[in-house]
Amino acid sequence: MPRPPLLPDPVGLHLANLDTPPDWDAEFGFSGPLELEIGSGAGGHALEYCRRNPGVRFVAFEWRKKYARDTQDRAQKHGLRNLRVLEADARSVVPRLFAAGSLDAIHLQFPDPWWKRAHFKRAVVQPDFARLMLEKMKPGGLFDMRTDVQDRAVNMLSILEGAGFVNPLGTGVFHPYDPEEAPSTRERRYLVSGEPVYRARLRKPS
Ligand SMILES: C[S@@+](CC[C@H](N)C(=O)[O-])C[C@H]1O[C@@H](n2cnc3c(N)ncnc32)[C@H](O)[C@@H]1O
Repeated sequence: MPRPPLLPDPVGLHLANLDTPPDWDAEFGFSGPLELEIGSGAGGHALEYCRRNPGVRFVAFEWRKKYARDTQDRAQKHGLRNLRVLEADARSVVPRLFAAGSLDAIHLQFPDPWWKRAHFKRAVVQPDFARLMLEKMKPGGLFDMRTDVQDRAVNMLSILEGAGFVNPLGTGVFHPYDPEEAPSTRERRYLVSGEPVYRARLRKPS
């Protein structure tokens, strides 16, 4: 009986398996800001952001194998040296992989809304993980969040502000669209259709 083809190793396994943060200068071969994306999906934002910001070292988490592998393949094809893709659950790996105060920015765009009550606990933005993300960031670091789901937007903003992120526009206020932002794959659709997107740009207090 023919065997099913073996699946390739998870993308970024050498990093996802570490118990302590790596030497990021050695991993990337250069020093510079260190940024993180959680749930990079098909990779539209990660690839475009890395192309525009070659001095930023960017780590993209995406637990779906096909998306993670495609994004890595496209990064290689385009010669992007500043992107690492990790096929892993960000919630379990981020605590081990980044030292406190090491991240310049975290990007979270269009996270899965997990509609069923039984699945709420799978959401990325929960009070404990929000506090952990704050701890991992440098003072003044940026949390960039976007979503099309209004009640999730309100809820995530409230959790992040409750964890200690500061909203320069005022508590609970969303950020206007900025055409200079690198859009995510999903966001491109909304920019064409005109459907609302709720954005926040929060800071870790300096
Ligand atoms: C709705 S999609 C949005 C993808 C992309 N950010 C965009 O805007 O096009 C959410 C993505 O997050 C990924 N994801 C959800 N939870 C994750 C986790 N804990 N760790 C890594 N990836 C996750 C999903 O597999 C999915 O690809």
